[in-house]
Amino acid sequence: MEERMVSDQADSEELSLEQHLRPHSFDQYIGQEHVKNNLKIFIEAAKMRMETLDHVLLYGPPGLGKTTLAAIIANEMGGNLRTTSGPAIERPGDLAAILTAIEPGDILFIDEIHRLNRSIEEVLYPAMEDFCLDIVIGKGASARSIRIDLPPFTLVGATTRAGALSAPLRDRFGVLSRLEYYKPDELQEIIYRTATILEAEIADDAAEEIALRSRGTPRIANRLLRRVRDFAQVKSNGNITSSLAKEALDLLQVDRLGLDHIDHKLLKGIIEKFKGGPVGLETIAATIGEEAGTIEDVYEPYLLQIGFLQRTPRGRVVTHAVYEHFQMEVPKT
Ligand SMILES: Nc1ncnc2c1ncn2[C@@H]1O[C@H](COP(=O)(O)OP(=O)(O)OP(=O)(O)O)[C@@H](O)[C@H]1O
Ligand SMILES: [Mg+2]
Repeated sequence: MEERMVSDQADSEELSLEQHLRPHSFDQYIGQEHVKNNLKIFIEAAKMRMETLDHVLLYGPPGLGKTTLAAIIANEMGGNLRTTSGPAIERPGDLAAILTAIEPGDILFIDEIHRLNRSIEEVLYPAMEDFCLDIVIGKGASARSIRIDLPPFTLVGATTRAGALSAPLRDRFGVLSRLEYYKPDELQEIIYRTATILEAEIADDAAEEIALRSRGTPRIANRLLRRVRDFAQVKSNGNITSSLAKEALDLLQVDRLGLDHIDHKLLKGIIEKFKGGPVGLETIAATIGEEAGTIEDVYEPYLLQIGFLQRTPRGRVVTHAVYEHFQMEVPKT
């Protein structure tokens, strides 16, 4: 219980820091040029026509800046941001309550939108398409449906799994934006920006080192920077040098590709217990004691991206690059 409370506190600290570091405009939002340029045009066009922006679906792995972008869209459109999430909307009535409270031009942000259940999605369809709400009142023969008009608004949905979204829901978004992993030089820029906000001194090669180990993800870059900064504060005068960054990152068990102990457990598990695969996701999850969903959403996308894992119809397979990375001998087949 005690430990639980401590970790909740750490989580909320982490969360408020994250909000503090969040860019508020496109200018501060580094990288994702393709997504940004498109959104800028759609926003400008909507404003010129004095209309609301079409509904936007943001998808991509965790920590790449979906929530941040939703807030920037609201800022740029000059609308209020109303935030909720798939799991928080339990009944159709919950969504109806949210929708009827909407004001013209609001941005309704639904995080983890793939977790909405079907009966709730059905409330969303007419709201997205015609800005109205169909409510059934009464039961049986006396049941009738009434229609409530809603003010025009923009739905921004975010998901780590676009594939889990139902086709009818996906089709109702006018803008589909896929966020990509960041390049090291973009992450380095994000690290400089965060260091400035945190008033930390960081050497160029230290920022580069952290960027290389952040698995393409701003959230991880910011987290590693803060941990390295702690280390610099205690071990030296607070200045973050390259050697200090390397030492701290090694202590944090983040390897030179940014893989952490869970990535290692996953990859080595497949090699040692399943001869490199193929092995099913559920089986490997059970073997290493991690949740299949977490592996699929958080760990796998990056390992697939860097070519360490492959998905085949018969399961996951590690590639030769993994054996090289661990300096293991590639088994003969
Ligand atoms: N393009 C960017 N430029 C600078 N900082 C960024 C950028 N994108 C994200 N960040 C930082 O990374 C952190 C994580 O971003 P955010 O919460 O928006 O990710 P997310 O995609 O919503 O993640 P999740 O899927 O877990 O909800 C934020 O605190 C923000 O400061
Ligand atoms: Mg988010």
